[in-house]
Amino acid sequence: MNILSVTAEIFPLVKTGGLADVAGSLPKALAAHGIHTRSLVPGYPSVMRALTGVSPITHYDHLFGEGATLLAGQTDGLDLLVLDAPGFFDRQGGPYTDNHGKDYPDNWKRFAAFSFVAAQVAEHGVGDWRPDIIHAHDWHPALSLVYLKFSSNAGIPRVLTVHNLAFQGQFPALRFTELGLPDGAYSIEGLEYYGDLGYLKGGLQAADAITVVSPTYAREIMSPTFGMGLEGVMNARHDDVTGIVNGIDTEVWNPSSDPNIEHHFSTRAPLRRLPNRQKLLDLFGLSNTSGPVFAAVNRLTWQKGMDLLADVVDEIVKGGGKLIVHGQGDAAIEDAFIEVARRFPHSVSVEIGYDERLAHQIHAGADAMLVPSRFEPCGLTQLYALRYGCVPIVARTGGLSETIIDANDAALHAQVATGIQFSPVDTNELRLALRRAFRLFRRRRVWESLRRQGMRTDCSWHRSAAQYAELYGKVLTPDIRLAG
Ligand code: ADP
Ligand code: GLC
Repeated sequence: MNILSVTAEIFPLVKTGGLADVAGSLPKALAAHGIHTRSLVPGYPSVMRALTGVSPITHYDHLFGEGATLLAGQTDGLDLLVLDAPGFFDRQGGPYTDNHGKDYPDNWKRFAAFSFVAAQVAEHGVGDWRPDIIHAHDWHPALSLVYLKFSSNAGIPRVLTVHNLAFQGQFPALRFTELGLPDGAYSIEGLEYYGDLGYLKGGLQAADAITVVSPTYAREIMSPTFGMGLEGVMNARHDDVTGIVNGIDTEVWNPSSDPNIEHHFSTRAPLRRLPNRQKLLDLFGLSNTSGPVFAAVNRLTWQKGMDLLADVVDEIVKGGGKLIVHGQGDAAIEDAFIEVARRFPHSVSVEIGYDERLAHQIHAGADAMLVPSRFEPCGLTQLYALRYGCVPIVARTGGLSETIIDANDAALHAQVATGIQFSPVDTNELRLALRRAFRLFRRRRVWESLRRQGMRTDCSWHRSAAQYAELYGKVLTPDIRLAG
């Protein structure tokens, strides 16, 4: 089976978050099911630099006003199709924003062009290669499904994965005439979204199957609290929505061979982890402690509840713990962390920025990873934490609630607990979760058991790739789809 995966990010070439990790690792896991994935990505500078074995496929003189070439190439075990459109993608800033964090004003056009080409590849293939299914990720390529739905050629089945419903690709309706779609596409069944254009909304309506990145999130988004305005569409498409938990790349995140960390360790030799803790404290200018070293590696945003964490730092200091924070995001939250680090210089250290290597080192050295998200479709940091023996303390929401087993009495007794969950997500409950962590940390054998269970947890793509393979099978066989 051939899959055309369409994504605006792919690890290790371009990444702002978990989307990249998933788009980069799922193809490798699907290969074990006899599924060949080609990933279509925008030709950002980092992608163009990494590409090898490049061959041009199609040239567009005038793709939404820009010259563009579709290229085929490889890198890091990924089979890529790249839309080389310098006018759209060869820019100084990030994939979606300029150097000041402002959305590019022509995002509507950049991702319409990207989606248009994706739809062309889905319809006509590339050379001898024909995809059986198009699988688009998030809002950026969602319009490709709309182009296909409104094409005269019925085409191949369309799958859309929503990684985060908070990002929707909403643009002024007046752009509609420039998209080259028939009038009927601007409707409730199409792109119309509260009087605007909704790229994700259009994709949700045009998809044959929709997946989101955990079963809990699949339930949550049926309500206004988590549906972010799309709960009506999600309810209407309810029967076609499946939640599949993300896996992780267990090669990239392997504590026994990770080139980013100095002291390798494994479930069988967990004590070898200890020197990483000391190294981490040194790196962040903190002295050693008999208390727990808490960490957060995250986007510093409201979604991630990082403002709540900044508000309860005194709880960590009071208990004799340390806190290490690495991330970037909202200026106000960045400032709040800089301020607490100034107030508690012996207990809190903060590194604003984005550094993949540092992320690995923190997971390998800290005792506990804090993920106090207000909502979390799946979350990957808690999975990396499990694998690296860093006990996750998570909000009970979305994928966090189903990937971590809370250290309640029954779970501890049965030796299946892997972390701490708290709910509702507010400072009060976060404080109580920290207190629980202190208590458990003092019971050394209990903490070691949590750590060990976490490291033993299978976070690989093993089960989830099988679920994607099954879903692909269903969309290819509509009879089964109708029956089940
Ligand atoms: P989201 O995609 O919502 O940001 P996930 O937990 O799914 O959340 O994925 C986040 C990914 O980004 C993880 O791979 C995490 O390690 C990485 N990450 C987040 N912040 C940073 C940072 N400041 N430096 C390095 N990696 C980061
Ligand atoms: C999104 C979500 C996150 C998820 C990631 C990968 O960015 O916020 O929860 O893990 O996508 O699916």
